[in-house]
Amino acid sequence: MNKLVFPQGFIWGAATASYQIEGAAFEDGKGESIWDRFSHVPGNITNADTGDVACDHYHRYKEDIALMRELGLKSYRFSLSWPRIIPDGKGNMNHKGMDFYLRLCEGLAEAGIEPAVTLYHWDLPQRLMDIGGWVHRDTVKYFADYAALAFDHLNPYVKRWFTLNEPNVVAYVGYKEGRHAPGVRDPRAANQVAHHLVLGHGLAHQAFIDGNYQGELGIVVDVWPCYPSVIDDLEEKALAGQLNKWNLGLFLDPIFKGAYTDGVWDYKAGGAGFEPIIGPDDMRIIHKPADFIGLNNYSSHFVGNKAQQVEGEFPVTQMNWHIVPEGIYDLSFMAGQEYGVPIYITENGAACADKPSADGEVKDPLRIEYIRKHLMQIHRAISDGVDIKGYYCWSLMDNFEWAHGFEKRFGLIYIDYNTLQRIPKQSYKWYQQVIKDNAV
Ligand code: FCB
Repeated sequence: MNKLVFPQGFIWGAATASYQIEGAAFEDGKGESIWDRFSHVPGNITNADTGDVACDHYHRYKEDIALMRELGLKSYRFSLSWPRIIPDGKGNMNHKGMDFYLRLCEGLAEAGIEPAVTLYHWDLPQRLMDIGGWVHRDTVKYFADYAALAFDHLNPYVKRWFTLNEPNVVAYVGYKEGRHAPGVRDPRAANQVAHHLVLGHGLAHQAFIDGNYQGELGIVVDVWPCYPSVIDDLEEKALAGQLNKWNLGLFLDPIFKGAYTDGVWDYKAGGAGFEPIIGPDDMRIIHKPADFIGLNNYSSHFVGNKAQQVEGEFPVTQMNWHIVPEGIYDLSFMAGQEYGVPIYITENGAACADKPSADGEVKDPLRIEYIRKHLMQIHRAISDGVDIKGYYCWSLMDNFEWAHGFEKRFGLIYIDYNTLQRIPKQSYKWYQQVIKDNAV
């Protein structure tokens, strides 16, 4: 079979997040985060796992950079721990914390790997939670201050910034469903958080412009495209179309169009009357086209009477998420058409119940198949004119998968959590070849 060749300069990446890999949760002056607090509450996390040690990346980052170099990564997407840099969330910087990220960036530069940095991948300083977290408007301002500090120190190394990772999950899994930190169950608060998050993005973007920094800045949203369960059922089609508008537009419409999508607050809160309070200047601050859109995609949804039946036709990953590769094509296409800026696939990957076999190898054919099929769809989207600049596989290594703890493994690299040994899986070797060939 002929290989599908990607455009020259296509950015092959892999992604992680601070709380999921770093460990060193209480070291070198780091402040407590809401995930440190949440993961220590019995019943919140499978097997009572915590990120106290995680992959111990904080101490083993050199070994991890060596593995990235060996893999041939062009870019590494990681997040900064806000409380590691500013322990109280506001005020003084913890120099040891910032030094860690400077050392990491230096190591990446030596290895010829571009750092791509997420400012907020969910680990809010607990001290800001004590004043109400993202429900409280002051948190927005503190986020912008933290963003400016990060730009200032890391700007020499970092040319691609992501303000927020999956604000939808932050707001609705964290403050409505309560399955994630901070574990709040309040639909009104969740809508307020959503607005404050995108306002925080806007202020951070403004700080980036004001500082005249080189590079590009965008936001990362997670979207599972929706499909009718019966292809030509007009009602189901209309419903899927409406859901796609709301899910894709929640944060991107205010940023690119200056207004929220009609009906989105009722939809997200699951009822009427929970509109957030929006300040007189807020929409103007938010309305600044980002340089690109980051899309995280893992699966798709079907709506209508036959949804379950249709979904049943697709195999699932360890997360029980259906594998629907066409979804990433349709999602990229929709985003490209609607907003007209370049796209990075900032996360995509599969969880599998991996373990080393007798010969010591970790064989993960399902992950290889999953990524291969998604890359083929990304290639198709590019051929059809969608400006997709790069792909970050989730994840570089197995890690703390939030409420699921260490049970769900997404890595190209296996982590033995007893010894912290790293074992590149078969998918790592396969992805290495993809990068080398610039083709799948
Ligand atoms: C995304 C998160 C990421 C990881 C993957 C599996 O929602 O951004 O941290 O947990 O899912």
